[in-house]
Amino acid sequence: LNYRVPRTRRDIFQTLIKGLQRLEYRGYDSAGVAVDGSGKDHAASISLYKKTGKVKALDEEIYKNNGIDFEAELDTHFGIAHTRWATHGEPSPVNSHPHRSDKNNEFVVIHNGIITNYKELRKYLVSKGYEFESETDTEVIPKLIKYLYDNRENEYVSFSTLVERVIKQLEGAFALVFKSIHFPGEAVATRSVRAMVSLKLAIIEHTNKVIYLEDDDVAVVMEGKLYVHRIKRKAGEDPVRVIQTLQMELQQIMKGNFKAFMQKEIFEQPESVVNTMRGRICFDSNTVILGGLSDHLKEIKRCRRLILIGCGTSYHAGVATRQILEELTELPVMIELASDFLDRITPVFRDDVCFFISQSGETADTLMALRYCKQRGALTVGVTNTVGSSICRETDCGVHINAGPEVGVASTKAYTSQFVSLIMFALMLSEDRLSMQQRRLEIINGLKKLPELIKEVLALDDQIKSIADELHHQRSLLVMGRGYNYATCLEGALKIKEITYMHSEGIMAGELKHGPLALIDKHMPVIMIIMRDACYKKCHNALQQITARQGRPIILCCQDDPEISKMAYKTIELPQTVDCLQGILSVIPLQLISFHLAVLRGYDVDCPRNLAKSVTVE
Ligand code: G6P
Repeated sequence: LNYRVPRTRRDIFQTLIKGLQRLEYRGYDSAGVAVDGSGKDHAASISLYKKTGKVKALDEEIYKNNGIDFEAELDTHFGIAHTRWATHGEPSPVNSHPHRSDKNNEFVVIHNGIITNYKELRKYLVSKGYEFESETDTEVIPKLIKYLYDNRENEYVSFSTLVERVIKQLEGAFALVFKSIHFPGEAVATRSVRAMVSLKLAIIEHTNKVIYLEDDDVAVVMEGKLYVHRIKRKAGEDPVRVIQTLQMELQQIMKGNFKAFMQKEIFEQPESVVNTMRGRICFDSNTVILGGLSDHLKEIKRCRRLILIGCGTSYHAGVATRQILEELTELPVMIELASDFLDRITPVFRDDVCFFISQSGETADTLMALRYCKQRGALTVGVTNTVGSSICRETDCGVHINAGPEVGVASTKAYTSQFVSLIMFALMLSEDRLSMQQRRLEIINGLKKLPELIKEVLALDDQIKSIADELHHQRSLLVMGRGYNYATCLEGALKIKEITYMHSEGIMAGELKHGPLALIDKHMPVIMIIMRDACYKKCHNALQQITARQGRPIILCCQDDPEISKMAYKTIELPQTVDCLQGILSVIPLQLISFHLAVLRGYDVDCPRNLAKSVTVE
């Protein structure tokens, strides 16, 4: 944070703290801030405050401190702040950022990412007499920069040169910001394989103008001016970074009358799916155009296979749409968890088309898989919700799902919009297939009616809450289905795990008798999804096997299905749509049930323990 006009220290703290609070949903086990110190020559010292837990606790800690002159006006000042999601070392004040070089805070650093050679560096610095206070990988960075500063031997070295010398020694992936008492009013930021501006929510109140740094860029802020240069500049490479405008309104990220962002985002789905489709589907001519893919359509149609890659919910969007993609494109479709795909060193070919599905566009596993596929010459397609994200920028082409900012850690509206985006892709690819026209028409009509049907499902909220009232003391909850609704089971179980901390499993009903049936008795709560589609009969069989073991299933089924209703302990009746779109409706009751269960169990819905919205470490 750097202002050009004088500000009080209170302004500076408040701006930083508020920014952190907006970012809390991403990583929130501890937080810290460093600002110019008190006293006349304030820039010659740095004040550092760190605290475990919520940002509010940090805020209180700062205001408890009577030594701070909050009203003092500062004309040069640069403050840095950070929220931490623990990877190396437990959440604690010493492990939180900013990290410091020494007790005088000569250099302070914040870091996102991972330093893989920190043990070697630490050993070296310890041998030089440096004392470490934390268990983090980050702490080697401020120590190393101080070491280089202290050993500069009468040479004048600028702050950015020092930083460059530091990062030459670092291995791993990082975005870093440095501040130092030796360079008052100045700060240096750099990145390598890690995004810097994924913190739009924190800055949108102050500016909608951003510059995205590329890997190996060094940005220096000095006297209110910004300079960007490359560390390793390649021939012909343009070092100029354009200023981009963020399209985000503040009210988009306010909770309004909802108890939690997740709840707000669930209820936004009638509009968010419309935003995904807007300008892309022409309901009169039954055509679908995804502008971001048009230039590559020929290449995609000629490909050997489609590979859909993602993590968590984004992976489930691939599971949900695989069958219709296979049907409409007649191409083999692989769905892959990014981490496992990389572990297996999966063969990828130049005529493969690889999709990278990611709400944030920053998930490290997915990003690494993208780089892996690119290296092997495949065509890469991003399906993201974040314009300007790393995945967005590094793929050859892509689709923005346009769901609007998603704040709740448990993804909801991004899932349904990813789902719709992949369906639109299948429709676009099959446009010239005569034999597919009937089916395409049916799906396009289904998409048109989707927002109204989503509203009908949301209207069941009270009924769903009463089911949650009954279930919230349980330890486990199984979710079972097959075919088009298998993905709903996985996604529903993930929601339940993420925010209610109950054990939950998504079970493929076809596998029931191969193991999971052993879990069934009259005490085990089971949710079954039985829709009128090609798997109806088989699901009916599974239901009989469950009731024969005294199981008491809660069934998500289509309206007016007396046969299913009479075997159910409870039903949640959903409007029927086209089989391949049904999953968009059937996931909503599970989103709602997990939300209500988490509230009833007294948990923080938007900030589940141990999880982060966007996981930027592998
Ligand atoms: C994290 C989040 C999940 C999310 C996954 C993938 O684990 O907690 O909710 O589904 O990352 O995130 P992405 O941004 O790539 O979709």
